[in-house]
Amino acid sequence: MAEAFDVVVVGAGAAGLMCAMTAGQRGRRVLVVEHANKPGKKILMSGGGRCNFTNIGTGPANFLSANPHYCKSALARYTPADFIALVERHGIAYHEKELGQLFCDESSKQVVRMLLDECGAAGVRIEIGCGIEDVRARDEGGFALRTARGTFHAESLVVASGGLSIPSMGASGFGYRLAQQFGHVVLPTRAGLVPLTLSGTHLERLQDLSGVSLPVEASCNGQSFRNFMLLTHRGLSGPSILQISSYWQPGDALRLDLLPGADAEAFLRAQRQARPAAELRTVLSEQLPKRFAQRLCEAWLPNRPMRQYGERELRDIAAQLHHWPVTASGTEGYRTAEVTLGGVDTRELSSATMESRRVPGLYFIGEVVDVTGWLGGYNFQWAWASGHAAGEVA
Ligand code: FDA
Repeated sequence: MAEAFDVVVVGAGAAGLMCAMTAGQRGRRVLVVEHANKPGKKILMSGGGRCNFTNIGTGPANFLSANPHYCKSALARYTPADFIALVERHGIAYHEKELGQLFCDESSKQVVRMLLDECGAAGVRIEIGCGIEDVRARDEGGFALRTARGTFHAESLVVASGGLSIPSMGASGFGYRLAQQFGHVVLPTRAGLVPLTLSGTHLERLQDLSGVSLPVEASCNGQSFRNFMLLTHRGLSGPSILQISSYWQPGDALRLDLLPGADAEAFLRAQRQARPAAELRTVLSEQLPKRFAQRLCEAWLPNRPMRQYGERELRDIAAQLHHWPVTASGTEGYRTAEVTLGGVDTRELSSATMESRRVPGLYFIGEVVDVTGWLGGYNFQWAWASGHAAGEVA
């Protein structure tokens, strides 16, 4: 005998738990099915264990999607202030780190505990370690899910199974396959918020500087992010690189400004005037990490006393500092990516409810949908907002 629920949510991640508690609070009988061995694994590992749970500046401009308007309705109806109020009701202390990013003072575990407590209070049942074998639409309406723990019937089925990043955390292509099974278009997926790799001479020249970080402005395809860049043994990482990685694809031009906001030419000219005997690497070591400045002057720039540079050469050096000629060869891929770009096409989903326009009662929320946020708490805010939107109606 199949057990019947009003709502079955696939995935006990950020979006799924928010949806389940919201539907449960409306008196719906809700089951969450999670195949991993515990709920909220990505929440637990997020923000270095402190969960950057929202960004107070969240707006539609902080998201990538084939339809940039799709996220507007849900974001407007469940805002960072709504989630902050929930966090405060649960007595979770938090702080703003930078740029509107809110983190727990103590631990990400508190956010998972809060969501599970809310689900518990709303009578939501959660089946952990429960794989799904098969999903089908029932002739009499609703859905049947065959799982390792038996068959469940659901009036509404909410797919909150996330993207492909960090497969070791339970990520699977389940949501995309299910979408296709029900006739939905799935836009091509790729890793986002991910370190970029270097190869050949670029990598050889920088590999041993792994761990060095400096502020840069990274630009690509009309977007720019000014923040730290970290050199790694594979290539480039740090917040500015992770942010721009979502806008970059192999072959695209990436611009790295090593002296963002400064006028390198005027600076170099002033240095030539003030300290003509100082070498370029000494002058640059005062603006950039010393080892990095030295490497620049060994591998990219001619190193001489400042007085020996003519006008044209100074201009060339300044241009290279504002546009460091390094080309990324790829990304580290889903293994280390924070998010998955692309996913279930929003054109066949309601932006108010997240419900499929093709299959009544079927919903897609969170990262499985073609909506991807910047680094800095935006992805969780999308998970809360889309989960809440579906939970209000499913
Ligand atoms: P999420 O991935 O959270 O949950 C999906 C759930 O579905 C998982 O529990 C999975 O096991 C389950 N599932 C998958 N397939 C299934 C199946 N077939 N059957 C049953 N269950 C299935 N964002 C942010 O805003 N602030 C931050 O600080 C961070 N930090 C961060 C760090 C790291 C290392 C990563 C990888 C990611 C982040 N993110 C982040 C991104 C954020 O974690 C992500 O966008 C959200 O977790 C997405 O929420 P979802 O609920 O959509 O998917």
